[in-house]
Amino acid sequence: MSSRQTYDEVLRTLSEGSVHTHFDAFTDIDWDNPDWTIDLKDPRWVLPEVDPLGGHPWYQAQPLERQIEIGLWRMVNITKVGMQFENVLIRGAMDYLFSLPNGKPEFRYLTHECTEETHHTQMFQEFVNRSGCDVPGGRPSFRVLSRFLPLAGSLWPEVFFTGVLAGEEPIDHVQKAILRSGATQHPLLRRIMQIHVAEEARHISFAHEFLRQKTPELGKFRKGALSVAYPLVMRTLGDVIMIPGKRMTTELGVPRRVIRDIFWKSPEGRKMLRDLFADVRMLAEDTGLMNPVSRRVWKLLRIDGRASRYRGQPASLAS
Ligand SMILES: [Fe+2]
Ligand SMILES: [Fe+2]
Repeated sequence: MSSRQTYDEVLRTLSEGSVHTHFDAFTDIDWDNPDWTIDLKDPRWVLPEVDPLGGHPWYQAQPLERQIEIGLWRMVNITKVGMQFENVLIRGAMDYLFSLPNGKPEFRYLTHECTEETHHTQMFQEFVNRSGCDVPGGRPSFRVLSRFLPLAGSLWPEVFFTGVLAGEEPIDHVQKAILRSGATQHPLLRRIMQIHVAEEARHISFAHEFLRQKTPELGKFRKGALSVAYPLVMRTLGDVIMIPGKRMTTELGVPRRVIRDIFWKSPEGRKMLRDLFADVRMLAEDTGLMNPVSRRVWKLLRIDGRASRYRGQPASLAS
């Protein structure tokens, strides 16, 4: 079977997966369960240790009510950033699909994905609304750029889907780490994360397959440009997702030095930054996007390191 046929087959399987397993933001989440209300006295909002802020000695030294307040705000803000990313994804995917030639399997798969992302944005925004935290989401520069990013869907699809992965991988990595840790968690957020991780597996598979299929078809110049753009997009968008904006300092009083320490000055912070991108390094190796120039860019951005041996390999098992 040619690589094209295999790719078409994978997209058909992913599309069928979307038909068989999918979630609805309002029928699959028990929003009005009395045990699921959001309450600032609820210790289940204390950040787990696997969260980079939750594991920091400054956070752990705070009184319980401060830990709850900061923990809830952080989770709600990450959720809002997730909503914004997926909104950009939907718009860019639609831009890509508009002029796609007839008969392409991407049309069916990506419209399934956009349907799922629409449900995700609904469940994310509903969680934000019910939390009572008026969070901004991404930093201001991201909110301005979000108007233009979807244009890359048709103009530079390989970079657009690199950006999609750059948004999906860190969120998925953090959500899986929290779910795997077995830490006590608020059941509403836990349910949202479970639904998200289940559907994201498909989305991340598609982005990997898309880049695996399209990269070898690119001309020399475009492939060279992608090899350099790839780590730049990963690091820039990864930072937008992971690093809390100024309001965490001004409104919640988390010292700037603590945020700088975690993202990414401390040895633990530096390790986490590298771990976030182990899967996408594997993809870059496999698709020929690692060359002497791009390797230097990965290194300069401090996201170089070992590639995963398989997708989703937990960092603790990497050797
Ligand atoms: Fe999603
Ligand atoms: Fe997704």
